[in-house]
Amino acid sequence: MPTVLITDAERGIAPEFVRQYARDGWRVIATCMQPAAAEELTSIADEYVTVEIHTLDVTDRDAIYELATKLEDTTIDILLNNAGVVSTDSDNLMALLPQRMCGLDFPEWEKLFRINTLGPMAMVEAFADLVAASGEKKIISLSSRLASIANNNDGAYYAYRSTNAALNAAMRSMAIDLAPSGIACAVLHSEDLDTPSFPAMPPPEGRTAVRNVESLRAQIAALVPENAGRFLGPDGREVAW
Ligand SMILES: NC(=O)c1ccc[n+]([C@@H]2O[C@H](COP(=O)([O-])OP(=O)(O)OC[C@H]3O[C@@H](n4cnc5c(N)ncnc54)[C@H](OP(=O)(O)O)[C@@H]3O)[C@@H](O)[C@H]2O)c1
Repeated sequence: MPTVLITDAERGIAPEFVRQYARDGWRVIATCMQPAAAEELTSIADEYVTVEIHTLDVTDRDAIYELATKLEDTTIDILLNNAGVVSTDSDNLMALLPQRMCGLDFPEWEKLFRINTLGPMAMVEAFADLVAASGEKKIISLSSRLASIANNNDGAYYAYRSTNAALNAAMRSMAIDLAPSGIACAVLHSEDLDTPSFPAMPPPEGRTAVRNVESLRAQIAALVPENAGRFLGPDGREVAW
């Protein structure tokens, strides 16, 4: 049975990934910060015995290594770094979202760097051997089109853009460095969806969480070492760095 490890599966896009992989017969290792509050994830785990939930804060590197040790007898076919937030202040999302020049919040920016960039990198560092030992050997990080420097014609979103652009740069290097181990890395841009972190971004007409995840999973399934190291949209089209 293939295994996928998904970070931050508590809410937003991730539970749909968990549901679809489980439905297709995968073992799903889902991490989240507060399992007790993860109602949707818990109900999916109740439905599918192949879903297991582990508590993890992706900014806690020791905890990431503890989980890797706990899972050392497991091979991970797909490591899916879903971690990523626009703001850590869910009560003040609309004010913090654009983060324009006036009143830049540096402590918040540092927190986003730890969640959006360093967290996924620590996951790769800790789990690369378990991925290399698997059949599929894939590492995916969800990023955002807002991380594209080439396509930035609107400004704002300093923290979100830069922490995801840093993630992209690191993933590109990891794709090159992990290629000799047979691991294929890619960065995927999720379609805009109305999730807790992105309430101001209604989905495009006809786009649902289910279809979005189906499209992203198709890109993951199509990933092979020969086309790794790219930044792709859910339609498979390359996004300019
Ligand atoms: N939704 C979109 O429109 C969109 C568009 C492009 C890209 N993306 C990308 O897709 C990914 C998922 O986005 P989403 O909209 O599903 O996000 P979301 O709904 O805001 O979910 C973010 C998750 O991250 C968790 N989290 C926050 N800090 C954490 C930490 N230190 N350790 C572990 N978990 C932590 C949150 O947990 P709590 O609930 O406990 O806070 C929450 O479960 C992100 O990488 C995002 O950049 C999303």
